[in-house]
Amino acid sequence: MSARILDGESFASRLHRETSVRVDKLKSRGITPGLVFIRVGEDPASRAYVSRKEKRAQEAGINSRTLVLPESTLLPALLGEIDTLNADPKVHGILIQSPLPASLPNDLVYARVSPAKDVDGFHPVNFGKLLLGDPTGFLPCTPAGILEILRLGEIPTSGKHAVVVGRGQIVGRPLALLLARKAPGTDCTVTLAHSRTADLPSLTRQADILIGALGRPLFLKKEHVKPGAIVVDVGVNRIPDQANPRGYRLVGDVDFESVKTVAGAITPNPGGVGPMTIALLLSNTVRAAEDLSR
Ligand code: GUN
Repeated sequence: MSARILDGESFASRLHRETSVRVDKLKSRGITPGLVFIRVGEDPASRAYVSRKEKRAQEAGINSRTLVLPESTLLPALLGEIDTLNADPKVHGILIQSPLPASLPNDLVYARVSPAKDVDGFHPVNFGKLLLGDPTGFLPCTPAGILEILRLGEIPTSGKHAVVVGRGQIVGRPLALLLARKAPGTDCTVTLAHSRTADLPSLTRQADILIGALGRPLFLKKEHVKPGAIVVDVGVNRIPDQANPRGYRLVGDVDFESVKTVAGAITPNPGGVGPMTIALLLSNTVRAAEDLSR
């Protein structure tokens, strides 16, 4: 038996249509949502991500642009750029692409973005609101996108055991907290596991919903999956591939070909979580514009 495919592209298209309607409403009031990406350095993966997000934002009618700063940028200069964007009324959302060069302290940089423009949900205020269940905060886009995949895929969550593999700040940790919330579309019993978890396969085989978010290529195999489980693959990993003109290919954290033979439903990769992350970023941006123009 082969798993049902949770098609992130088609779910994202549905969300984009809703976002476009909200953009049109704002425009009829003379407000064009504005989103600025900051990319520091020339990391090839970050270049690709940011240009894809910028293009999607433009397609949705959002005014978007990217500020590219050199790898050698010092902290005061970067904070100064963030201050300028915080004060610019035409800018409603600010996204600083991660990873930053090692010389720049993540915590100071992300905490400088105005929480009202923090459409990535990385600011400590927004992270705190997530923890408290305060809906006025911005949720980080990938975890929020995964909840939308479960909702639009009509996956029952209440009382289910979700195992999140990976405890990173961008996905694993916030996602575990969200899945455990007492609310529709969540309400799971959650285990937050990671690469050092003892006897990981016996734990992941207890999962009704299994999330791969640890950033290790093809790490979760058929042996990790209970028959019929829902599997969500967050990973984007480059592995060498001489047959590919680029010299590498992208694979997820889940070994799709083997896992799809046992899972009940699975996200493809690409075409699963990635498009949903972008859809949630644009919806957060429109909400920032709506809130800031009240
Ligand atoms: N790098 C990988 N994922 C993300 C994300 O969701 N936001 C930002 N800013 N950087 C990332």
